[in-house]
Amino acid sequence: MSTQRVALVTGAGMGIGKAIAERLASDGFAIAVNDVNESVAKATASALEESGTPAMAVPADVGNREQVFAIVGAVVEKFGRLDVMVNNAGIVQVDPILSITEADFDKLFAINVKGTLWCAQAAAQQMMTQGGGKIINAGSVASFLGNPLLGTYGASKFCVRGLTHVMAREFADHGITVNAYCPGIVDTGMWETIDGRASEVMGTPRGTLLEKARDMITLKRLEQPEDVAKLVSFLASSDADYITGQCMMVDGGIVMN
Ligand SMILES: NC(=O)c1ccc[n+]([C@@H]2O[C@H](COP(=O)([O-])OP(=O)(O)OC[C@H]3O[C@@H](n4cnc5c(N)ncnc54)[C@H](O)[C@@H]3O)[C@@H](O)[C@H]2O)c1
Repeated sequence: MSTQRVALVTGAGMGIGKAIAERLASDGFAIAVNDVNESVAKATASALEESGTPAMAVPADVGNREQVFAIVGAVVEKFGRLDVMVNNAGIVQVDPILSITEADFDKLFAINVKGTLWCAQAAAQQMMTQGGGKIINAGSVASFLGNPLLGTYGASKFCVRGLTHVMAREFADHGITVNAYCPGIVDTGMWETIDGRASEVMGTPRGTLLEKARDMITLKRLEQPEDVAKLVSFLASSDADYITGQCMMVDGGIVMN
């Protein structure tokens, strides 16, 4: 079995996931790049390979349990092991509570909640055969704070926090730690979606919500994907061996516990 540590990052074709994949590559991991969008998954994996990191693209929908188990199998077949699973993929919806439909709810929960669960199951099964590993979930400030218009999203991120606690307790005997990173307002496509849709719903100019949100940031600058990747790098490292069941804020001081 190869000794190079291996990380699989979901939703790593763009945004925060891409920055995490790049950071873990520079930390010395071989990287498996998942995304539902095959072309961006391949582009991220190719760029990593060009810079000397063993990498592979594993496109799949994290909401599809069979596909998730298949990609974890493919990663183990190629790299021989899986040390770190970053359950980053997620989507957002922006709707007042009274407008949420069952179809919207099911779609978002299939990715943000079931996706986290299926990925953790597949990863843990493999990690148990290796004597341990690290599972790192994507929480949010919305795992702690309810925000107007983010009903389905906030509910899903509270679920991720709950799953992180349960998984940490269930997997501890197998040497697997489970933690979550909780970003604030990160400058990615997701925030463009939130801001654009919120301006439609509220009838305000584009940028209004973003400006309001920026006021909540103690450090007074928008978060960058690399800010999140630094925390994930730590959680994936042996320096975090004694940390489990934690949902850590990396939000510039929006939520203070
Ligand atoms: N942007 C923020 O402000 C913010 C704040 C807190 C938490 N988060 C969380 O961080 C994670 C990444 O967010 P982001 O801002 O980079 O989002 P993004 O929309 O910029 O990128 C998400 C990536 O996930 C992929 N994806 C979507 N559905 C998928 C699926 N079913 N299977 C596999 N891949 C899928 C997309 O194709 C895209 O490449 C999400 O879980 C999000 O909820 C984001």
